[in-house]
Amino acid sequence: MFSTTYNEFVQGMSIVLKNDRLLRALTRQNVDVTPVWMMRQAGRYLPEYRATRSRAGDFMSLCQSPELACEVTLQPLRRYAFDAAILFSDILTIPDAMGLGLFFEAGEGPRFRKVIRTRSDVEKLPAISAKSDLSYVIDAVSLIRRELDGSVPLIGFSGSPWTLATYMIEGGGSKDFRQAKAFLYTEPEVMHLLLSKLADAVTDYLNAQIVAGAQAVQIFDTWGGILSTPNYLDFSLSYMKKIVSKLIKEHEGRAVPVILFTKNGGQWLEQIATAEADAVGLDWTTEISSGRERIGSVCALQGNMDPSILYSSPSVIRREVERILANFGKGNGHVFNLGHGITPEVNPDHVSVFVDAVHEISAQYHT
Ligand code: CP3
Repeated sequence: MFSTTYNEFVQGMSIVLKNDRLLRALTRQNVDVTPVWMMRQAGRYLPEYRATRSRAGDFMSLCQSPELACEVTLQPLRRYAFDAAILFSDILTIPDAMGLGLFFEAGEGPRFRKVIRTRSDVEKLPAISAKSDLSYVIDAVSLIRRELDGSVPLIGFSGSPWTLATYMIEGGGSKDFRQAKAFLYTEPEVMHLLLSKLADAVTDYLNAQIVAGAQAVQIFDTWGGILSTPNYLDFSLSYMKKIVSKLIKEHEGRAVPVILFTKNGGQWLEQIATAEADAVGLDWTTEISSGRERIGSVCALQGNMDPSILYSSPSVIRREVERILANFGKGNGHVFNLGHGITPEVNPDHVSVFVDAVHEISAQYHT
């Protein structure tokens, strides 16, 4: 034991992961069955989540307590055979840490007390350090890793700079993104300044999550798909590319894969693939077979069942899982997921049907 070298020790740590299907699929290695997890897998469709949230008082208090964030992260894993845990938090913690004052009003989406509307608002935004300004998230990551005890990998995440900017400018969610788009068209250099400040914050935040134990990371670009092609490339993708190039590539003796998810980004897959992330998330509007044909030789693909299928019956859910698996075809590089987050009204029993169907039906696609 005393002769164990550091490298052997580190390799030993990576072996401790009992189920590494997700990390293998993200790096296009063989797996026995297709791994599956679900965006928003910890959330309001689960009665135990609603109970913990009411114990916390509100959503932000839940995010800010590492113990409760850890508890809700683990809840879906007690019910379902997911191949990964995802950190319970929110993408809007970064603008909150920059002083915008995030709050959630019952029945409404997120809101900010302060909004970004002028050059001086952008110039005044402070640089943040995840370790000190978002320590509650970093502490949650360490605690979740400890509690997972090597059962499945932990995914960390952040919003993309563009998606964060839309919320900061609108002051919350929006139907038409009028303010954010007007800002982009009237003050493009100020928008670039805002996006580069956010890109620095996201890079530091994701690297801090990796150091604390996140074994893969996903960047959510929920609103990249509302942009024109030149603006997507210039105002969203270029910043995600910069972030990917600065992320820690290996930790604990193992590669840390990066997933880029641009909702409604199917038309830009070739360009997204140039960001050199390990995997690209697809929503349900792009066929996964066409995604594979277009970029499958350089990236893994994640997705892409319409979350609304979970409102239907077990037999319809199984049939759709079967269709997507057949559509991807035999071989490596597929992580099954929904094309966007699960919604609160879904029957929790339907999630077991979904997860079990992926594992049962996918075995024939792997040899
Ligand atoms: O996936 C997971 O299980 C991890 C947790 C997670 C949450 N939000 C928890 C959450 C993740 C990865 C996010 C990301 C997030 N947050 C995104 C990007 C992904 C996406 O869905 O497009 C965005 C745009 C946000 C911002 C945000 N946070 C919105 C728009 C809302 C309201 C949504 C709604 O359905 O009401 C939130 C709140 C939020 N974040 C909830 C959860 C479980 C619901 C809050 C509650 O419990 O009342």
